[in-house]
Amino acid sequence: MNKVPYLMSARGIVKSYGPTSVLKGFDLSIAAGEVHAFLGGNGAGKSTLIKIISGQIDRDGGSLEFAQNRASPDGVNTSDENGIAVVNQELALLPHLTVAENIALPRRHRGWSVFNGGDARRIAVDALSLIDPTFAQVSVDRLVADLSLHERQLVEIARALDSGASLLLLDEPTANLTAGETERLFAVLRRLTADKGLAVLFVSHRMREIRQIADVCTIIRNGQTAVDRVALKSITDAEIVEQMGQAALGTAQASSRTQRRPRTESNGNEIGKPNALRVQTDGIDLDIPAGTILGLAGPPVGPETLMNALTGVSSAGRWSIARNGVAVTYQRPASAARDGVGFVSGDRSNKGILANLPIVDNLAASARIVGRKRAVRSDEMTDGRDLLDALSIRASSLWDLPASLSGGTQQKLLIARWLKLKPKVLVLEEPTRGVDIRTKQEIYTLIREMAAQGSTIVWWSTEYVELVELCDTVLAFDPDGHPTSVLKHDQINEAELAHATGMAA
Ligand SMILES: Nc1ncnc2c1ncn2[C@@H]1O[C@H](COP(=O)(O)OP(=O)(O)OP(=O)(O)O)[C@@H](O)[C@H]1O
Ligand SMILES: [Mg+2]
Repeated sequence: MNKVPYLMSARGIVKSYGPTSVLKGFDLSIAAGEVHAFLGGNGAGKSTLIKIISGQIDRDGGSLEFAQNRASPDGVNTSDENGIAVVNQELALLPHLTVAENIALPRRHRGWSVFNGGDARRIAVDALSLIDPTFAQVSVDRLVADLSLHERQLVEIARALDSGASLLLLDEPTANLTAGETERLFAVLRRLTADKGLAVLFVSHRMREIRQIADVCTIIRNGQTAVDRVALKSITDAEIVEQMGQAALGTAQASSRTQRRPRTESNGNEIGKPNALRVQTDGIDLDIPAGTILGLAGPPVGPETLMNALTGVSSAGRWSIARNGVAVTYQRPASAARDGVGFVSGDRSNKGILANLPIVDNLAASARIVGRKRAVRSDEMTDGRDLLDALSIRASSLWDLPASLSGGTQQKLLIARWLKLKPKVLVLEEPTRGVDIRTKQEIYTLIREMAAQGSTIVWWSTEYVELVELCDTVLAFDPDGHPTSVLKHDQINEAELAHATGMAA
């Protein structure tokens, strides 16, 4: 009998995109009942492999074997037959259907009748309740198009959990979840792996989470298997980073301070002198001196209102904002940008990346909106090359389209846009989403440098360790979106953040 010991084995997988050779004989095996961390730097090929396993793209060579013994020889469109559910890095919901329809739609075996009456809604409420019972009650009839990125992520995960699959492929599922939601997701995964023998392939750049949830890891480097099914207990963080082909963390931190920085002084588009910011709302009156790194903590609903007000994305609502003692309101994001307020949206696919324009235009986008000087193509090319260098962005040419870049690399493009402009205020919404461990440290260094030069940084993150590492002051919001407290210096630790955001266990 041709039975494989693993639920799924990928052997010698080869994949190239044109001249770019991504997977060069890669092996990975997943056993039933385990959470398997799949680790590697940005652009290493993790999402590519996930798409190959789930039949979304073709492989050039190698084999996939499934324990159910139903692998098709060409490996295409096997996901359904092989009981695989996938949460892709860039989400894939149908925007003009409701939440209930999106969750119930893949349940083909129940046929179209699920869309009559309340079946689809009941399925959706049950699935969503696994990670967020409150959201489940209020969201099922909403159109996906009207949901925030964070809400869409919940729907996508719920759909995968509901699928009854025996193998879940989760490509950075927690990047947009709050600490509480991540906890609940992990609890569900633990239960399904223990009780039902579910296998989970889990991609994340958050070391803390990886250690919380995963049993074993496989590391990809240079298109090959650098570490094959090693228990997480027996490998250190430094070893993991090293096996990913990145400098050890301490070294990365130290060296990034001395590394060549972008020539920020040269482009002539800087937006004026630094200044102080004051934000007020019920019970909060916060003076933020120039050069502060202000963290926003808590579920997105609260931080979003402040970030939207600061950047002209929507009306100021209950916030009043003053710069150097003068009240400011912005009708549009472009007005805020011209007034020196930079913004990196957390929703890079819909609100950040210009998908049909080459990398050079993506990098020059903010400078053009700020428009202090006439855009000159040759200057944009020079600046573009500088920025690719400063953020170690792996791209073969400035003329490539962003679709050819990995998720974390696209994220770096968005941050790079502002590096040379010296904005007075830079608002960053989960800016390291999908960014690998080494690059995160580089981004922290760049942000610290911008702050040292007088930019005020407003940084929302769902990752507490990141806020602790980076911020001078943190404004915490509760799950209802109300600002609850201001934490400074020594008060900024994970326990305090969990407490202040209502996430304490
Ligand atoms: N559609 C495409 N066309 C051309 N090149 C591509 C395409 N998709 C991915 N690539 C390239 O393949 C390589 C692997 O990308 P992939 O998205 O699999 O990386 P990843 O490990 O998931 O990275 P990340 O951690 O940033 O998500 C990268 O060099 C990327 O630029
Ligand atoms: Mg990826």
